[in-house]
Amino acid sequence: MLLYEEVSARVSEMIRKGTYRAGERIPSIRALSRQMRVSVNTVMESYGRLENSGLIEARPQSGYYVRSPLPEALSGAEIRGAMEDIVPNPVTIGDTALQVMAALASPALVPLGGGVPNPDLLPMDKLHRMLASEAKRFRSQSIAYPPAQGHKRLRTQIAKRSLNSGCPLAPDDIVVTSGCVEAMNLALQAVCRPGDTVAIGSPVYPTFLKSIQWMGLKALEIPSNDQGMNLEVLEYAIQHNPINACITIANFNNPLGSLMPDTKKKELVRLLAKHDTPLIEDDVYGDLAYGPSRPVSTKAFDEKGLVLYCASFSKTLAPGYRVGWIAPGRFREKVAQLKTLLNIATASPTQFAIAEFLTNGGYDHHLRKIRRVYARQTALLRDAVGRYFPAGTRVSHPEGGYILWVEMLEAFDSFKLYKAAVREGIGIAPGRIFTLGDRYRNCFRLNAAFWSERMEQAVETLGGIAEGIGVTRRSGRDRYVSL
Ligand SMILES: Cc1ncc(COP(=O)(O)O)c(C=O)c1O
Repeated sequence: MLLYEEVSARVSEMIRKGTYRAGERIPSIRALSRQMRVSVNTVMESYGRLENSGLIEARPQSGYYVRSPLPEALSGAEIRGAMEDIVPNPVTIGDTALQVMAALASPALVPLGGGVPNPDLLPMDKLHRMLASEAKRFRSQSIAYPPAQGHKRLRTQIAKRSLNSGCPLAPDDIVVTSGCVEAMNLALQAVCRPGDTVAIGSPVYPTFLKSIQWMGLKALEIPSNDQGMNLEVLEYAIQHNPINACITIANFNNPLGSLMPDTKKKELVRLLAKHDTPLIEDDVYGDLAYGPSRPVSTKAFDEKGLVLYCASFSKTLAPGYRVGWIAPGRFREKVAQLKTLLNIATASPTQFAIAEFLTNGGYDHHLRKIRRVYARQTALLRDAVGRYFPAGTRVSHPEGGYILWVEMLEAFDSFKLYKAAVREGIGIAPGRIFTLGDRYRNCFRLNAAFWSERMEQAVETLGGIAEGIGVTRRSGRDRYVSL
């Protein structure tokens, strides 16, 4: 056996026996070369081969990690349905879906189903101290009506950070909002009128369906995979329907976890610009990239001011502070007017606290910490699903955020799993709440933010239930075919 083969065999065995589990970092090249008394080149050769075989993966500037044995494809979310099925639908969210969404917020359930961040990972004490000190420092400004666009101090900090997402903004390009959802709602209201059609990546984050319904719009679901929405289908949809706006979560999508490559972001912006169609981008998870830098936004490619970029600090600092923002491009005046009309402005004290955190709180250091934790926890949850769920289960492989999309065999009914799970005190988000059509019945979403032993036990219980439910033949109602 050659030396590098011996090293590979030793590392593989340690992984097989569970010394290093999926998502865990294995020794660095230097450390292993010292431990095994072989040259750095030998370990490099060995790691290269283990990487090619899919057992480990390199993460830039971070080291080598054990990969989960699960397949990564997301065929459930890939193009399914003939082009003629790509039609706008008036949005009426069924009672069942609404009940599921309400049930998932229950604190009584093991929180695998919701989309919320883990409060233990948020800089609670520091933020609260800053909230108090800033309220003192800006005594009268804190209780007076805030400026409609938001405090300049905060907008300046957001603008300074905007280079990270590839779109250099000025403070005046930004309107502060009460979270990302308000930003998205303002964007929709600014560019659509009742009866209009919105193209949206599917599976859809359910809150968007609620917004679209509330505004009397129609939704046209564009199938997506681990690289975001299918642009061929979008182009077809644009050619055959009047599309008034498009919504995307290009970075670490909820629920797919997908990341749209930069070339595709550029292509998306170009395609919509050709038709003068506004693009509403939700980038609430962008700062949670596992790699050393965050991905750019679609706004980075916006030459015509058609991208309305929405984000918030809800996933990284404090969802309860309700601080988000929108960079509405050419719709800035309209958005600012709507914001004033709806609630005058976003509350001042939390704006000041977040601005202070961005200035002196070590936001980047904090981000590095939580990104590492979420990367690890997401890998551990993937690994647990791989261990406890029936063969054939597929799980997304996100590069940021903390959300996983699980796809069972085609005929599996994830709603049955949801109901049985709730009876066991466990929450999961069944696929059917992410669509208006008859899709994703065999899929569900999990949240890795709260990983713990209790979570692992819950996944084991879920896997047992899933095994029991098994797979039954479905009627031929769905005409899912590959395009
Ligand atoms: C895609 C997406 N957008 C927006 C939000 C909510 O953002 P905010 O709390 O800032 O309104 C969430 C929360 O789950 C989300 O997943």
